[in-house]
Amino acid sequence: MGKVYVFDHPLIQHKVALMRKADTSVKDFRELAREIAMLMAYEATRDLPLEEVEIETPICSTKVNMLKGEDLAIIPVLRAGLGFVDGMLSLVPNAKVGHIGLYRDPETHEPVEYYCKLPKDIEKRQIFVVDPMLATGGSASAAIDFIKERGGRNITFMCLIAAPEGIDVLQKRHPDVDIYIAAKDQRLNEHAYIVPGLGDAGDRLYGTK
Ligand code: PRP
Ligand code: URA
Repeated sequence: MGKVYVFDHPLIQHKVALMRKADTSVKDFRELAREIAMLMAYEATRDLPLEEVEIETPICSTKVNMLKGEDLAIIPVLRAGLGFVDGMLSLVPNAKVGHIGLYRDPETHEPVEYYCKLPKDIEKRQIFVVDPMLATGGSASAAIDFIKERGGRNITFMCLIAAPEGIDVLQKRHPDVDIYIAAKDQRLNEHAYIVPGLGDAGDRLYGTK
């Protein structure tokens, strides 16, 4: 069973609280998403392997630890997952970025695919699938299905807010995937929105409502 890690660092909690507020502007919402992505990436990359490398400082040669050429892939679930990409890339600028386009059918709440473009060596990469919201878990599970169908194996899911229902579904459908979240909320409402949540993440990031 995949583990669930709640990143309860005070800075992350404070910024998520600001994102939840209904009167937070689109500009501030987007900026907060970028900042939280950076903070979460810092935590999520804690176990990346290092290797000892010899370098020259202005004073002498010395051995230092550097990242062991671990190839990462960041895969946002469109649209809202895009809000995480820049923040993560500012910490791991060599990561490749894939895109999976999914939207939830408003009636059935089932994910509908419209786009998928992944790095071609996806099977070799450590993959972070990013999406701010894990509600029913349908979108995250479908996105990870597509990645696995194309050879991706080493996968972590990262989101801001998760409902217990979404965590259960994702753990059952993808028991090999660890889940990193900033907050676990109470439940879903009758429209499958997270309560208390932050509303529609895509609309709030891009000002479309
Ligand atoms: C939102 C969110 C997730 C999905 C989560 O996307 O960004 O992808 O809903 O819900 P689920 O866990 O019930 O599948 P949405 O479908 O609103 O599309 P958008 O990002 O284009 O707005
Ligand atoms: N998608 C969102 O953007 N918000 C929710 O609360 C649930 C799904």
